[in-house]
Amino acid sequence: MAEAKSPDLFEQVVNLSKRRGFVFPSSEIYGGFRSTYDYGPLGVLMKRNVMDAWWRAMVQQRDDIVGIDAAILMAPKVWEASGHVATFADPLVDCRKCKERWREDQIEGVCPNCGSTDLTPARPFNLMFKTHVGPVEDEGSIAYLRPETAQGIFVNFMNVLQTTRKKPPFGIAQMGKSFRNEITPGNFIFRTREFEQMEMEFFIPPVEGDTWFEYWCRERLQWYVDHGIPEDKLRLREHDAEELSHYSAGTADIEFLYPWGWGELEGVANRTDYDLTQHAKFSGEKLEYYDQATGERYVPHVIEPAAGVGRSMMAFLLAAYDEDEINGEKRTVLRLHHRLAPYQVAVLPLSKNEKLTPTAREVYDLIKPHFMTDYDETQSIGRRYRRQDEAGTPYCVTVDFESIEDKAVTIRERDTLEQVRVPIDELASMLTDRLA
Ligand code: GAP
Repeated sequence: MAEAKSPDLFEQVVNLSKRRGFVFPSSEIYGGFRSTYDYGPLGVLMKRNVMDAWWRAMVQQRDDIVGIDAAILMAPKVWEASGHVATFADPLVDCRKCKERWREDQIEGVCPNCGSTDLTPARPFNLMFKTHVGPVEDEGSIAYLRPETAQGIFVNFMNVLQTTRKKPPFGIAQMGKSFRNEITPGNFIFRTREFEQMEMEFFIPPVEGDTWFEYWCRERLQWYVDHGIPEDKLRLREHDAEELSHYSAGTADIEFLYPWGWGELEGVANRTDYDLTQHAKFSGEKLEYYDQATGERYVPHVIEPAAGVGRSMMAFLLAAYDEDEINGEKRTVLRLHHRLAPYQVAVLPLSKNEKLTPTAREVYDLIKPHFMTDYDETQSIGRRYRRQDEAGTPYCVTVDFESIEDKAVTIRERDTLEQVRVPIDELASMLTDRLA
């Protein structure tokens, strides 16, 4: 059984994220804003890579899943039909002594702030953010920021069916922002009020629920392993009956061993025909599949793997963080999967000598159309290697004085520190072989 790494690991990753431009506290010059975060120059590259890797596995490499990109604001009826208006709530209690408000299920009857047990009875608190659409702020103009991307998929079910001619089993994938007015956000980008999700609704014949549920649990777990998370830091945990969401007949969480213990990374849920049936009822539209071959008409059931972008990114960073020693000197290295690393390659002239610049720029121009490439000529070469190791860059390409004569450069590998000399005109194809 894997041990949770030291609690320091969390601090180290948070510090590295800030220091190197992965993640900044939002509105920092105003003292930050309530567990919201901004992704910096390295973070935005990595975040896009995480989303690209998901899209590649879920859409590009499959012929049974298509994508959509639905609006964040949707008809308010959507959230009545989905059950979110009535049931997407946490039970909250107020401490009568210090007036703090807590989630009842997280405090065991004692106020964590002042220790009082004089608490109000629990009241449900809906997690959806409300806003108003248009110039008048009244009951009729209320809209919600979506708390999950899934509903944009369900309400487009017939549109996708008719335009793609897909038939069950098939899936619709979507990535995008969701919003929840979480009572206890925290642990950096683990739980925030604004976050991005990567969700896929897989529509199936009703009798195939168990088979596809198991299939998607396996597939999704493997995706994290394939992208660098060790198997012993991942597990599947089935929800008990009282933990299940209002729409689910069965859910398993893919959990990661965070520094504070096991926690959810992604949920795989058997949503049955709940959502399509509800939307059919509330909209008056038929949301069914008609199988021409058998003459059968049915409401498909749905298996849903739902992942968070920030949460995945955090797990990838935590799993990749490492410290070792090179020639007696401590090195911090992010052993990120090359597809997820912000930069795949860095071009580093040996020094800032002007004789090296033209060849180094030539090499940079050659590589940058193929890979996200950094160019860095400041400070000593040793320090620049350290900076790239800390950013997780898998390959550094060093241009030295011999390069001007022999038209060759040195490739240095981040993890093995192996160095090989290669002709410049073979560089792009060699890197492609290694990074493909
Ligand atoms: N459509 C189903 C659904 O939204 P969920 O388990 O509530 O299910 C799916 O959310 C995933 O979205 C979670 O596993 C997590 O990765 C991410 N997620 C949910 N709430 C989050 C939050 N407040 N902050 C960051 N990520 C969150």
